Amino acid sequence: MPHDPIPDNAPPADTGTDDNDGGGPAALLGLPRVIGHRGAAASAPENTVASFRAAAAAGATMVEFDVKLTSDSQAVAFHDETLERTTNGQGRIRDLSLGELRRLDAGGWFEPVFAGEEIPTLEAVLDFLLGVGIRPNIELKPCPGRDEETARVVVAVASACWPAHRPPPLLSSFSREALEVARELAPTWPRGLIVDRLPPDWQDATLALGVSALHCQQRHLSPVAVEEIRRTGLAIVAWTVNDSDRARTLWKWGVDAVVSDSPDVILGALP
Ligand code: G3P
Ligand code: MG
Repeated sequence: MPHDPIPDNAPPADTGTDDNDGGGPAALLGLPRVIGHRGAAASAPENTVASFRAAAAAGATMVEFDVKLTSDSQAVAFHDETLERTTNGQGRIRDLSLGELRRLDAGGWFEPVFAGEEIPTLEAVLDFLLGVGIRPNIELKPCPGRDEETARVVVAVASACWPAHRPPPLLSSFSREALEVARELAPTWPRGLIVDRLPPDWQDATLALGVSALHCQQRHLSPVAVEEIRRTGLAIVAWTVNDSDRARTLWKWGVDAVVSDSPDVILGALP
């Protein structure tokens, strides 16, 4: 087992309010104002249990993480198409089975103290988050051509492990196909379309998909764009925001939630 330097009982950051109140779309979705990105990716290796533990220690109440399928169709938390950047493995994640992936080290690349950290299954992530009281924002991040299957597996696993009496996971994706499938299978779960630059068809697309949130690359947002999005009744999530001043500006414009690699820092910037 890897040594993990972030204890379960670390005190949360001393922050202002993380709730979106006022009855708008974000309040209805129960979205907090800060969402940990890939856990707390600035403090621990992204998309590992160590990163989710760091987010919990920071006081995050929601974390975003990416989910892909293995060659044997198991859902795991992982961002890239290939293994090299965040593990000691090589090649494409889609070509390896869960058993093969579990032999890889997904922590040592970040800092030696995290060596031995595993690529976690979706089930393991949800179990951990349930235990620490954090709500998941599951990004469906299909490998090419696996959009439908990824959505099916994620909804099946999450439905089995996430208690119906808890606020449901927020599902988000760049993949419109994955979001369509998720709607069929879990019609009551909130969903968000992720975009980089606002595409010209964002209004039609969000309406057709029936999503409740638009997750925008923060660099491309402006007060005018935020105002336009707000008028449609969508909640606005901005990614990835690691600077306190930028977070305060985005909140002031009307962004509901910012996704951050450093939820500890951004929670500390809450008014
Ligand atoms: O969910 C927002 C953000 O995570 C999307 O980009 O590449 O970090 O998954 P990426
Ligand atoms: Mg992501």
